[in-house]
Amino acid sequence: MNHLAAPALPNPSSISIGTDVFDLYLSEETIAERVLQLGQAIERDYAGKSPVFVGILNGAFIFLADLVRAVQTLDVEIDFYKLSSYGNRKISSGEIQCLKAVDMSLAGRDVIVVEDIVDSGLSLTYIRNEILKLQPQSVRFCALFFKEGVSQLEFKVDYVGFFIPKQFVIGYGLDVAQKKRNLRAVYKLREP
Ligand code: IMP
Ligand code: MG
Repeated sequence: MNHLAAPALPNPSSISIGTDVFDLYLSEETIAERVLQLGQAIERDYAGKSPVFVGILNGAFIFLADLVRAVQTLDVEIDFYKLSSYGNRKISSGEIQCLKAVDMSLAGRDVIVVEDIVDSGLSLTYIRNEILKLQPQSVRFCALFFKEGVSQLEFKVDYVGFFIPKQFVIGYGLDVAQKKRNLRAVYKLREP
């Protein structure tokens, strides 16, 4: 991936935020390589089609930006849902609020939902129900991270970047209390 604006500084090996310490987990090179592979799989599966990538804000914005640039052979369109976040907590409240729906019509379209991370699966289940009401031709799901053993999903996530243990991660779009989304690598919370 070509990050022209990014300075060529190494990713720090750990970051302290208040009393929490986060350790480097996935380098930006590792992420970029995997995003490219996901893009190639999507290009193969959607050859000749014009899918709509529907990003889930805020967390998916960086992943989506890199993913759509990894599918140069496809004629893609992009729209967004915005869901309420965890706020300042590190676990889901279990309540989902839609703060913004897609603007474009998804009727008859091939939709690819792009999510940063699937934890309980509640957010993705909510989005799937909303999108199915809009009568798309097809819906598939792409998540950069899928937390193993946590998701209660009753459907498949078609494209997964990384299956990870139940742990809290930040960077590359993922936040802790809305901060640190701009880290270029992904960091995981050090357990005491
Ligand atoms: P779910 O609804 O429990 O699957 O949670 C999904 C949403 O919670 C994601 O879209 C993220 O915004 C947020 N989330 C879940 N796990 C993490 C994490 O480890 N770090 C940061 N955000 C997370
Ligand atoms: Mg999210």
